[in-house]
Amino acid sequence: MLILNSGANSGIGYETAISLATACTISVIRVDITNKETINATKENINLKFGKLNVLINNAGISHPLLRKSVNPYIIYISSALGSVTLRLDPDREHREIRSDTCRMSKSALNMLAACQRYNYAEWGCNVLAFNPGWCISNRTGESGREIRSKGGARSPKEPAIALVDIVLGKRDDDVEKNGMLDLDGGILPW
Ligand SMILES: NC(=O)c1ccc[n+]([C@@H]2O[C@H](COP(=O)([O-])OP(=O)(O)OC[C@H]3O[C@@H](n4cnc5c(N)ncnc54)[C@H](OP(=O)(O)O)[C@@H]3O)[C@@H](O)[C@H]2O)c1
Repeated sequence: MLILNSGANSGIGYETAISLATACTISVIRVDITNKETINATKENINLKFGKLNVLINNAGISHPLLRKSVNPYIIYISSALGSVTLRLDPDREHREIRSDTCRMSKSALNMLAACQRYNYAEWGCNVLAFNPGWCISNRTGESGREIRSKGGARSPKEPAIALVDIVLGKRDDDVEKNGMLDLDGGILPW
């Protein structure tokens, strides 16, 4: 199985690569997802070496036409429960007091991208999904953020990594078929 896991040098992407390494051979590709040249070079590189792609895990966003060459491909967007419009106004939702408006808006837009691709790509059998990795210790909010997260009870990025490997291995296909974001702890969250 060929898996492209973008954003793999730290946090959730790194732990996912480490978890996948128990079952797969890993190669590292340097790519800046804001730079078209490096994105095109990556596509070319994968095409020449492998000619297809089965799974795309997007910690940092990227798209890939080689998915069309595989049977039952997956695109997995690393989203966030903060992106759920429904949960934003749920009075019983934990962490409701967290503002993070910009993050909420961008993940909400990412969810819409996943929903649109889910609809548009169904014709060629691609499973597109958004995944909530929970609140994890990572480099996302810098060194001071790591400390705040550790002390505040944030989870290890190994936990979403293990959940992602389960998704890639098809163990959560029942959830993949449902309409919503796949949650780290199982089941789905509303968009
Ligand atoms: N941690 C959480 O609590 C949490 C919660 C909800 C959602 N998420 C989502 O989880 C995903 C992974 O985040 P993380 O928490 O694991 O943070 P992280 O430790 O900062 O990891 C982000 C990864 O993306 C890479 N990246 C950033 N800009 C890039 C670019 N232009 N080109 C290529 N790679 C780039 C980073 O590489 P460099 O180090 O080289 O920049 C790094 O490997 C993100 O989509 C985040 O929004 C995280």
